Amino acid sequence: MNDTIKTIHSLRTIHGNFSDKKISDNDLETILQASVCAATASARQTYSILVIRDKEKMHQLSEYIGDVLLIFCVDFTRLIELAKHLNHEFDVSDAIGFVTGSTDTIMAAQTACIAAKSLGIDSLFTQRGMHRRDIAKVFDILNLPEQYCFPLVALVLGYPRAEPEFQKGRLTGKSIIHWGTYHCLSTDEKEALVAQYDDTNKHLGLIDNWAQLGMKHYLDWFYSKWSQRVDTKNFVTALKKSGFLPSE
Ligand SMILES: Cc1cc2nc3c(=O)[nH]c(=O)nc-3n(C[C@H](O)[C@H](O)[C@H](O)COP(=O)(O)O)c2cc1C
Repeated sequence: MNDTIKTIHSLRTIHGNFSDKKISDNDLETILQASVCAATASARQTYSILVIRDKEKMHQLSEYIGDVLLIFCVDFTRLIELAKHLNHEFDVSDAIGFVTGSTDTIMAAQTACIAAKSLGIDSLFTQRGMHRRDIAKVFDILNLPEQYCFPLVALVLGYPRAEPEFQKGRLTGKSIIHWGTYHCLSTDEKEALVAQYDDTNKHLGLIDNWAQLGMKHYLDWFYSKWSQRVDTKNFVTALKKSGFLPSE
């Protein structure tokens, strides 16, 4: 493996357990400059990155505390303002705009995460404080434009207080990588996947103690407990207000 592949394979989330060690201004600048190197549709860079170092704000926005919080917003404001400035029409109120812009945004976010890791800085992606709580508060705290700007993901950066006990696994192979055409799962393949999730040595799921919680399979816990807890009402209202989703 070369150094880049080694860095990617060494990625793992620090679940909120960051130390007080500071990220240097130099490293932070390197991460931000790497982030904006990500590919971008039509060279538009339809995102903004908000950099938060204030710990209280960081917690309010993400529910975690690291040394730095980066909030990646899909954002057409800059392009809209420039169009107005030069007297051009520029309409982004369609699903394609949102999907393409979001793609740009997430690519910049993952690039920041890899750049950070290459500098020995760990991270945690989260949307919890933004999408599952009071998203209007996020707009307020960050003074985000009401329309055509929407916070997609937060990246907490810092140094770990303690090393995670293990690195989480990932599915790979036929169920993830489809060569040429889409491959639908056979019953045997589904059983094999259920077994993979149940193999606690693979650490594929979010928890390993699903059996103690009375579940036959990890995925029983995932579908019956974990996936039931999302309240999307505030999120959808905010997305409509931002103009990215039609109001009715
Ligand atoms: C969009 C997104 C949101 C996430 N939200 C959280 C979160 O709120 N809290 C958390 O502890 N981890 C969160 N994670 C991290 C995942 O739990 C983690 O990536 C996954 O369990 C795999 O572990 P690994 O990153 O250590 O390999 C999030 C990851 C992504 C990509």
